[in-house]
Amino acid sequence: MTITTAHHTAYRRPEAPSGPPKLDRDQLRRAQQDTMDTPRMAYGLLARMMFKPVDLLYGKQGSYTKFAMLEIIARVPYQAWERMGYWAVHRHAGRSALARRVFERIVEARADQDNEQWHLLIMQDLVQRSGHKQGWLLHQAAPWLIAFFYYHVSWVLFLVRPDWSYRLNAEFEDHAEHEYMTFVAQNPDLDFVPDPGTYAAEYGRYRSVADLLRQIGHDERTHKLDSLESMREPRVR
Ligand SMILES: [Fe+2]
Ligand SMILES: [Fe+2]
Repeated sequence: MTITTAHHTAYRRPEAPSGPPKLDRDQLRRAQQDTMDTPRMAYGLLARMMFKPVDLLYGKQGSYTKFAMLEIIARVPYQAWERMGYWAVHRHAGRSALARRVFERIVEARADQDNEQWHLLIMQDLVQRSGHKQGWLLHQAAPWLIAFFYYHVSWVLFLVRPDWSYRLNAEFEDHAEHEYMTFVAQNPDLDFVPDPGTYAAEYGRYRSVADLLRQIGHDERTHKLDSLESMREPRVR
């Protein structure tokens, strides 16, 4: 495909990771099965301090409004790591090879933020299509408060124990992965609801809303595995 406009060049920069791989129909079903066969991680105190209020405010059962809420806060640790990364690049300015490796993590953190942002846009679209009204307290104030807490926990943890910061995110991603895949399993009718394809150009088009949600669930699994991987080498050397 020839790229002619500056706009498209910006989207197709080869050095910008485009997010986790997009799966086909069979792979999506297998991904769901993999998640259902994998027990949830043991969530620590900090993770439970976020999941508990979310369950209380939005219900234990999955829903588009609950997922939208989770996606608002999902971006936050990546944002915190990006910011800490720039601080480290500055600190290691005299060691260019190290500064470059830190920058690679910054690029990764930014790609993950973008991926979470697509999830959020897709969820908001599904909420609006389902005709749900989102009130100020539950859908503006509460997400902001939880995101505020999560952001500061993420960067402080990253400063003192970066492996704990990655672990916390891995737990958050594991939770999201299971929430999506369980929701799809509990709502078999979603396999017959066509994907509205609002963000098809950027996120791909799926056979059904069920497959769209499976893809998002698989993204969360990839985020989790990346964080568990980063835990093994929490500080860039
Ligand atoms: Fe997400
Ligand atoms: Fe995620």
